Amino acid sequence: MAITVRSFAKINLGLRIGPLRPDGFHELRTVYQTIALHDIIHVQVGRGSGIEIRSEDPRVPKDKSNTCYRIVQLAMPALQARGRVIIEIEKRLPVQGGLGGASANAVATLLALERALKKTLPAHERLRIASEVGSDLPLFLIGGTILGIGHGEEVYPLPDLPAIPCVIATPDIGISTPKAFADWDALAGGSRAHISSADSKLTLPPASDRISEFGHVLSAWLGGLSQSQSKQDKSGRASSGVPVSKGRGRAETPLLDLVRTGIENDFERVVFPKYPELREVKRVLERAGAAYASLSGSGSAIYGLFASRDAAVKAASRLRADVTPAVATATLTRRQYWNQIFD
Ligand code: C5P
Repeated sequence: MAITVRSFAKINLGLRIGPLRPDGFHELRTVYQTIALHDIIHVQVGRGSGIEIRSEDPRVPKDKSNTCYRIVQLAMPALQARGRVIIEIEKRLPVQGGLGGASANAVATLLALERALKKTLPAHERLRIASEVGSDLPLFLIGGTILGIGHGEEVYPLPDLPAIPCVIATPDIGISTPKAFADWDALAGGSRAHISSADSKLTLPPASDRISEFGHVLSAWLGGLSQSQSKQDKSGRASSGVPVSKGRGRAETPLLDLVRTGIENDFERVVFPKYPELREVKRVLERAGAAYASLSGSGSAIYGLFASRDAAVKAASRLRADVTPAVATATLTRRQYWNQIFD
């Protein structure tokens, strides 16, 4: 019997790129947030051996290069299981879109495989296998709002924030993440030498300072959240505790407080000059009332966070009128994420 799972996407609420490490990865700081957009994955285990990937989408690789293939390769021996694993991918998310589509597919495959085999790996073993396949996989073993450090693979759950309406624009541009990192190195190297490009007028502080700065912003936000929680506990009503959010609705405040503390996605500095149409999509979202809009990961997806579902729906249709694919959806809390993975 095939096991069916939803494979939800993520966005990055801020992403700071640190120094290039000896292992070839960049030190990274980011906050991941799962969203309600998803692919659908079916997994079945039959007699025989081998791994087969099926998808009607020609852009989905059917060989070893597919993250689903690789995770099954690692998981089968760890689960001490044998059989032929057939994975069917119903692709709805963009490929190379910055929404973690392929990474989410692999984690969804692992969860479905465990269920199909009626076996479970210990949580730390799942995380190890996931991080071996890619930096963006482990976050999907946590869900909700997540801190990502190391090269993005070391993940910690942050306080589970209320769902917030958002728009995801998916321009038809595929961006290679390794290439975007290489472009960043060229820019950061250049700016250290005080060569300013059109998009980086300011000289960037050293990578290690920029990494600690992200930590300070995040600690300040978390401090504000817990203060507001204790005020709420005392008074019995919600209050953000962070000055920037005064006067706004309750559900939206914690997440918007975070993005308004000044976090940004470093990839914008290398991706926007190459694809100015993406900067324009961000502007359209801002003009349509987004409290915050940003590139997700290395793109090309751009998201906007909105105060109401109505405003998000209007912004998405405005983008579609400009021939940019866009949908209104919402962020997904950790609880919603785990409740909705299995049918
Ligand atoms: O881990 P993942 O397979 O997604 O990484 C793909 C490539 O992206 C890496 O081989 C590396 O070149 C680059 N990368 C990086 N720094 C990170 C994550 C990825 O340089 N933090």
